[in-house]
Amino acid sequence: MEKIVIIGGEPLQGTIEISGSKNASLPLMAASILTNESVILDNTPNLADIHTMGSVLDSLGVNFDKSKLIENNQIKLTYQESDKALAEYDLVRKMRASILVLGPLLARKREATVSMPGGCAIGARPVNIHVDALAKLGGEFNLEKGYIKCEAKSGLKGAKIELPMISVGATENIIMAASLAKGETEITNIAIEPEIIDLIDLLKAMGAQIEVGPNRKVLIQGVDELHGATHTVIPDRIEVGTYIIAGAITQGDLEIRNINFDHIKNLLSVFESLGVDMIKSDNNLKVKISDISKSIELDTREYPGFPTDLQAQMMVLLSLSNRSSVIRENIFENRFMHVPELNRMGANIEINGSQAKINPCNGFSGAQVMATDLRASVSLVLASLIAKGETTINRVYHLDRGYEKLENKLASCGANIKRIQ
Ligand code: EPZ
Repeated sequence: MEKIVIIGGEPLQGTIEISGSKNASLPLMAASILTNESVILDNTPNLADIHTMGSVLDSLGVNFDKSKLIENNQIKLTYQESDKALAEYDLVRKMRASILVLGPLLARKREATVSMPGGCAIGARPVNIHVDALAKLGGEFNLEKGYIKCEAKSGLKGAKIELPMISVGATENIIMAASLAKGETEITNIAIEPEIIDLIDLLKAMGAQIEVGPNRKVLIQGVDELHGATHTVIPDRIEVGTYIIAGAITQGDLEIRNINFDHIKNLLSVFESLGVDMIKSDNNLKVKISDISKSIELDTREYPGFPTDLQAQMMVLLSLSNRSSVIRENIFENRFMHVPELNRMGANIEINGSQAKINPCNGFSGAQVMATDLRASVSLVLASLIAKGETTINRVYHLDRGYEKLENKLASCGANIKRIQ
């Protein structure tokens, strides 16, 4: 089992290049099922989750060409009509986002059998909204032996769909399916994360007729078929937020490159309100010495609100303030798994239901810690960058799911970090 060992205390100085977005890449990959032609994705991050999605797609008849992934961050996906429509449990359980093959398969093959993804460390994460929305397009569902079986013998038909709650994955599934449904589909209460807009951009490049309106509404005119396309994955806004925090807490002088500032407007204002000193230029951001002396009350919300995927990382930054702050986790029911580990390193965080109170502490000290989920594990990396002494982080496979070349990027800016077997 690989571990990461960090000796804290080094200010980060230098340049970090942001990779393509994991949470944009995964639905973009699933969209390849919607056409027999090739979908080429540039700026795809070389992450474990990309390989997992590639394996799921491969098992469904998609040729996943990753020969240029390491060198050029390019993948090519070509769906060859096949009778396979079963996404196996042992693949799906590794990554919930496998559920994103459901809509495309139903649209293309008029049938699909996908394992229930099951919960994960941060919550039950049901897929009822996905299923109910696809049923409105004509999918007939039943659940048996842990699998979602669905079919639409006469194909999908457009419908009016009001999503009962905002869901990123359900929005992605239903938009992909509706692209090939007969007639018009109007969906309201959609999620509007940049990753969803990126998926819509690819679908439109493939010939889909999609119009995003105001007030979380989208209108889709189904087409008979979609063609191939080449698309560049947007930068990972969560990675950007993570490295801004890394620069701020290490009191370094860090330049972060390849940023799409349209995706992080509200995020930057939160950092500014906390006293993080940043200078924007083109697509880059310099994070300078920061005096974190403010207190804040933060709610995680659907985009454009504060992202839940930065909640764990934010706790490390707020721990450096000399005043208490509060974060309320409104998206997932169990996303404070990092708190006991951070407290073991010296943080002073109190949990009360979905609310965390981050109090001033006397800094962090190195420890043996355990990663639990992707974002929790990177918050432990952040804490160890400023901890006195050595920290060993176990189960680093969580990190490899979502942060490309993490230790290389940090080490190139002076962090004392290495991966050991
Ligand atoms: C996406 O997950 C992201 N994953 C998550 O990032 C992110 O935290 C989440 O959106 C929220 O922004 C990918 O894009 C691959 P949801 P998703 O459906 O689509 C409930 C990371 O670290 N819900 O918006 O699964 C659900 O339980 C990951 O990169 C239902 O109840 O999130 C949750 O409480 C973690 N029924 C809330 O909605 C459903 O059918 C939001 O979930 C679907 C969701």
